[in-house]
Amino acid sequence: MAQQDDVFKKIVSHAKEYGFVFQSSEIYDGLSAVYDYGQNGVELKNNIKRYWWEAMTLLHENIVGIDSAIFMHPTIWKASGHVDAFNDPLIDNRDSKKRYRADVLIEEQIAKYDEKINKEVAKARKRFGDSFDEAMFVQTNGRVADIAARRDALHERFAEAMNAGNLEELRQIIVDEEIVCPISGTRNWTEVRQFNLMFKTEMGSTADGAMTVYLRPETAQGIFVNYLNVQKTGRMRLPFGIAQIGKAFRNEIVARQFIFRMREFEQMEMQFFVQPGREMEYFAYWKEQRLRWHKALGLGDEKYRYHDHEKLAHYANAATDIEFRMPFGFKEVEGIHSRTNFDLSQHEKFSGKKIQYFDPERNESYTPYVIETSIGVDRMFLSVLCSSYEEQALEGGDTRVVLHLPEALAPVKCAVMPLVKKDGLPEKAREIVNDLKFDFATHYDEKDSIGKRYRRQDAIGTPFCITVDHQTLEDGTVTLRERDSMQQQRVAIADLHRLIHDRVSLNSLLRKLG
Ligand code: GAP
Repeated sequence: MAQQDDVFKKIVSHAKEYGFVFQSSEIYDGLSAVYDYGQNGVELKNNIKRYWWEAMTLLHENIVGIDSAIFMHPTIWKASGHVDAFNDPLIDNRDSKKRYRADVLIEEQIAKYDEKINKEVAKARKRFGDSFDEAMFVQTNGRVADIAARRDALHERFAEAMNAGNLEELRQIIVDEEIVCPISGTRNWTEVRQFNLMFKTEMGSTADGAMTVYLRPETAQGIFVNYLNVQKTGRMRLPFGIAQIGKAFRNEIVARQFIFRMREFEQMEMQFFVQPGREMEYFAYWKEQRLRWHKALGLGDEKYRYHDHEKLAHYANAATDIEFRMPFGFKEVEGIHSRTNFDLSQHEKFSGKKIQYFDPERNESYTPYVIETSIGVDRMFLSVLCSSYEEQALEGGDTRVVLHLPEALAPVKCAVMPLVKKDGLPEKAREIVNDLKFDFATHYDEKDSIGKRYRRQDAIGTPFCITVDHQTLEDGTVTLRERDSMQQQRVAIADLHRLIHDRVSLNSLLRKLG
């Protein structure tokens, strides 16, 4: 675990050093859980968004996109339930004056039991060597069985308290488990209180009577309130989907793990409207489709798993997360939810407007059911970054840091380098850049030794380096170096476009989805 922490720290500093992610307002000592994307980060992020957008809107003729405003009528958040129920249970430590999410403190305590079990298993494996049977050991070792029983009992008690919204019980668990504040080391806890996660601001001047508005905590409601507009103007027939990419804001209290949990983040959400009774069929369809989208990136199939929700929100009849193995464990990257007709019905009730679909086949009107797919752009970015990062030992004792980014997502697709800064080589290299730049993000680099220039491109994940040397001037060929294998081949300048395109185009990634 400590080793994984170290790797994660290295990834975070690499992200800063190479212009992927910066702390927001850094020269003013930063703003907690808010981040800026740098020159390479914004390209990687845009490529992730394009991959999602095109997979939704180009590959499905019944999905269209919208871009709704961040500010919306405040009643929308009353109707959606966010004003009354979008809360986290918080607890303060009186000595450190630090505030924590009560549920997170308890989840961390559960994780500590798991860690203890893992330690016992690791010790026993060392002791027994090849003959070690982990399953048998976990079942029969008294100490491990005892820890597992305590963990299971805690888990059950915690789940019951959360389901019942029992704040007193959450506090009692913290007391009984003797959980201490990581800062003060004391157990001097306040009561647990609910805290709403929405940011509020005011619209209009006070003299006119300012209205309290919220920064949207999800983009989904912008889709629901535009359902009728899109259905009517686009003459859409069920089933059909509306996709949207945009910012969302949550006043997260436990904001940690870099861009995993932020206060300002971006979501890519798609609401798929279906006939009532067919929602489970489409829930299964989208569950499978979304995992395929992730796996097509080639980050490693073993890094994904589904986490089906046992406890469902009152309006949902099925929900699952797609989790990705981050350096700090399997974590949710995307949620797929069957939201019934809850949202549209609520907006119908609160707005007093009829929000229905007339089904010409059934010759009746009804409120469609909805399957939602909701993925965080920043979490997706983090999963791509973490699984691409490698410190590689090379022959001869040298090392390099390389980002094995999926080629279609790489911020820069190729870098063109004259071997030396004279003899007409820079001019020839510029000529190649001026041709390739219309189709690919292309860098020109003439500073430092060629080895240093290769390392710089490896560190930002550039799939190809093109070196122009004296032979180029004679026979019109260059060296094409591949990022992952570091292999170099001599190719004609005339073939560069085709060779690069075949590997880096989004098109080839989308084709994998069929
Ligand atoms: N409309 C449904 C919805 O918003 P959610 O599970 O709360 O569902 C969906 O959020 C996705 O948004 C998550 O799977 C995650 O990727 C991303 N997300 C949520 N909160 C986030 C945060 N504070 N920082 C970064 N990403 C977040």
